[in-house]
Amino acid sequence: MLDTGDDLFTREDPIFANKELLEISHLPGEGRIVGRDDEISQLANAVNPAIFGQSPSNVLIYGKTGTGKSLCAKYVSNRLVETAAGEGVDAAFAYVDCAQDTTETQAVQTIAEAVNDPDDTDIRVPDKGLSTSTYYKRLWRILDVRFDVVLILLDEIDKLDDDDILMQLSRAGEAGKIDRCKLGVIGISNKIQYKDRMDERVKSSLCEREFVFPPYDANQLRDIMEARGDAFREDVLDPSTIPRAAALAAREHGDARKAIDILRYAGEIAQSKGVPTVKEEFVTQARERAETDRFRELIRGSTPHSRYVLQALALLSLSKQRQDGFRTSRVYEIYENICRQEGSDSLSLRRVRDLLKEHAFLDIIEQSKHSGGSAEGSYTKHRLLEDPEVVKEVLTEDIDG
Ligand SMILES: Nc1ncnc2c1ncn2[C@@H]1O[C@H](COP(=O)(O)OP(=O)(O)OP(=O)(O)O)[C@@H](O)[C@H]1O
Ligand SMILES: [Mg+2]
Repeated sequence: MLDTGDDLFTREDPIFANKELLEISHLPGEGRIVGRDDEISQLANAVNPAIFGQSPSNVLIYGKTGTGKSLCAKYVSNRLVETAAGEGVDAAFAYVDCAQDTTETQAVQTIAEAVNDPDDTDIRVPDKGLSTSTYYKRLWRILDVRFDVVLILLDEIDKLDDDDILMQLSRAGEAGKIDRCKLGVIGISNKIQYKDRMDERVKSSLCEREFVFPPYDANQLRDIMEARGDAFREDVLDPSTIPRAAALAAREHGDARKAIDILRYAGEIAQSKGVPTVKEEFVTQARERAETDRFRELIRGSTPHSRYVLQALALLSLSKQRQDGFRTSRVYEIYENICRQEGSDSLSLRRVRDLLKEHAFLDIIEQSKHSGGSAEGSYTKHRLLEDPEVVKEVLTEDIDG
């Protein structure tokens, strides 16, 4: 028989006081954004005209994963809307995750729904069922009825199927689609080559201002983690845990997401072991888990061929420990085999080179140039930086799952 004073359940979390602070979706407020003052003020400067109801500059933000691009863009947009309101300007922003909304129709629908208030406009924006052009027409009407200026954040912009929506948004004003409302677009990408793929006209209007966010160093990562130290109960964190996690994360990628993940996982490890402190030694194990997560996130929404190329390199790395990597021709051979197995036509060697470059930009692989002497000319070698087991594991997971 259970008496009411049983201790089957713990009523208080012994480790975390406010775990939310370490969740991915958490948007830290001012004071918790560390080491991005310059980026934030440059971004604010670019969109500043919106405060007066004038057109903000269109902006493209680049940088490796976990460098605070999405965070700073959202933060500046929030602040802009608040400040504009203080000036009597009706402003809003719409956030689109293009990895989720890859088609033009989905993206327009998301924007229209985000800026709409059916009580105010009497316009409905159903989840689906309308043609792309109808969604656009409703969007333009909503914008003109409700706002003086709207910022549209297209995050992971490189995941869009094509440039059509960029064309529409960047030319809505001059094409007379909207009249009262001014639009600004903030595009965000971690693919440096994205711009090369853009249509010239889109490029010239969308890339009025460009910013590159650098990776964080160990001190910045430590500050970022320390600013969230109150996620833990007092005296639960071993004093050397954060510095250790920062050092590891900085050495590898300078990725704030990973640093925060490491801290959360280290806390969970303490929880599952039932010990009262988050010890430095938990960081190693936490790092492995964070690495798998990070890689999964990095390749989220990437094309099958981009995955086949990585899979080829992972297979090579598992079969042979080569410190300096594998030549493009060798990777291409294995890649072709994988395509054959998958029943898919292989891409040209040139496209595969581009895909390898993209992976190198994200630090998934490392490229090195070699000179083979006069007979061979020069060639490139590719080396996987991620653990090949992790790559293989993640790549063979159900892609749609
Ligand atoms: N300067 C910072 N201060 C505090 N937290 C930060 C900072 N930069 C990033 N973070 C946190 O790290 C995580 C990753 O940041 P963010 O999502 O902005 O990265 P990103 O550059 O958009 O990466 P990706 O290219 O993968 O989308 C988020 O949880 C964010 O809150
Ligand atoms: Mg982002």
